[in-house]
Amino acid sequence: MPTALIGGTGIYSLPGIEVKARKIQNEYGEVQIYVGQGDYEDVIFLTRHGQDHSTPPHKINYRANIKAIKDLGVQRILSTYAVGSISTDYPVSELGVLRDFLDFTHGRDFTFFDQIDKSVGHVEMSQPFCSVLSDALLELGAKHDLKVHDGAVYVATNGPRFESPAEIRMYRQLGGHVVGMTCCPEVYLAAELGMSFAAVALPINLAAGLEKNITLVGGNINEVRANMVNLMLDVLSQTTDAQCVPPILL
Ligand code: HPA
Repeated sequence: MPTALIGGTGIYSLPGIEVKARKIQNEYGEVQIYVGQGDYEDVIFLTRHGQDHSTPPHKINYRANIKAIKDLGVQRILSTYAVGSISTDYPVSELGVLRDFLDFTHGRDFTFFDQIDKSVGHVEMSQPFCSVLSDALLELGAKHDLKVHDGAVYVATNGPRFESPAEIRMYRQLGGHVVGMTCCPEVYLAAELGMSFAAVALPINLAAGLEKNITLVGGNINEVRANMVNLMLDVLSQTTDAQCVPPILL
């Protein structure tokens, strides 16, 4: 069965892997996907913001993307998010495995269950991220020269603006660790379609108010990103659909 990898900011290709571009049309819109070649024929790759990073977070067609992945027969999705760090437990350039989220997005098409003449589904979010995939991300991180921290709570803001210092103080008090603009609705749309989903956050800056001005990390960040993609491919190859616990619809 195919698996899917959704790349966030800075992840526009699968390093060293040939891909074939394919356009998919569904009832929500058109989606550009890339299918791995050679040993990676069962890997579907999607760049969330587009190859040229031209789609802002609130304009991403999340439903079209997730439906396209589902229609290709995917059961497991791994996703990456560039984030700001709110907590010293999640240092810049090191990965955080997401285990929970706080959703502050608005105005997005955030559900597949929005037609009053169809049956209503309430997806269960006690465990929003697949524990099997998340554990594997933690276990295999060191093999790919990555520092990986467990238990990150992702704060999803609407963007595209960054936060104010007071907002960051609030998010920290609420239990957030990293802040970004795209994990919601992605994670729960995948759950609504019955797919297992796990994700890593890569802090590329300290969030607003934690230093005088936000500065995006430079240095070896591209190497970290390449290692992160290799980690995710490794996790997808070392786990199976059957091991993952599918999301629950109530
Ligand atoms: N805030 C929101 N989204 C982000 C940030 C941030 O500080 N850094 C990268 N994506």
